[in-house]
Amino acid sequence: MKIYAHRGSSGTHPENTRAAFKHAANLPIFGVEFDVHLTKDGELVVIHDEKINRTSNGKGYIKDFTLAELKTYDFGSWFSHKFKEEKIPSLSEVLNVYLTTEHHINIELKTDVIQYEGIVQKLVQLLHSFELQSRVVISSFNHDTLREVKKLAPHIETATLSMKEFADPFAYVQAIPADALHVSLKTALRPSTEKVIRQGYPVRVFTVNKTKPIERLQEIGVSAIFTDYPDKMYKYLNHRKITRKFLQLFDH
Ligand code: G3P
Ligand code: MG
Repeated sequence: MKIYAHRGSSGTHPENTRAAFKHAANLPIFGVEFDVHLTKDGELVVIHDEKINRTSNGKGYIKDFTLAELKTYDFGSWFSHKFKEEKIPSLSEVLNVYLTTEHHINIELKTDVIQYEGIVQKLVQLLHSFELQSRVVISSFNHDTLREVKKLAPHIETATLSMKEFADPFAYVQAIPADALHVSLKTALRPSTEKVIRQGYPVRVFTVNKTKPIERLQEIGVSAIFTDYPDKMYKYLNHRKITRKFLQLFDH
């Protein structure tokens, strides 16, 4: 089972900042996940909420600031004074961190509350210029956004994000169409999820910060988990793998 650092290494660093991404980039994990919005001057920026209130010393909507204005705020101190120099990163800045690594990159387009005009075109163009189209999966809670991605760039992997269970997830992802499902932990444990995994769809689960559900998730066959604590989860999964191999030696 693969590990994605959720919003970078967001349990130990301020989420969606360069510090969180640099830390994740140095880990032997499979990938990284982060969230993207659009500024007033049409720049793609990496932040989770529509507003900067929770994770900075400023107030207001991303859509009402230019990138230069956003860069004047402190996006680290809310987490710890050690990170007071952290700024909001542009998407290009984050992609640059991963250009020299092999991490898979999950870009979540936050178009479920505000429908940012032109965000899909800008993203596809940027991925093209970075030559990263084959190393990303684009996800969104807004499934029309995923349709737009597929229309513009059919070769880029997409994933439906959902908090709730679909009656027939297999039919649903085929109808969008999307290539994978990103589901909450609760949904992952439902029988419909096992069914869609058996049909061959990759299922990735958010956000898994405790080790308790890991065994069941591995039994079901989920492809990956998103976690705020990638260091801890890597150690846990690696230890499990070694122990299982060791026990197999005595199985015969
Ligand atoms: O992409 C998985 C997860 O990030 C979705 O929820 O709210 O953390 O962006 P959220
Ligand atoms: Mg996200």
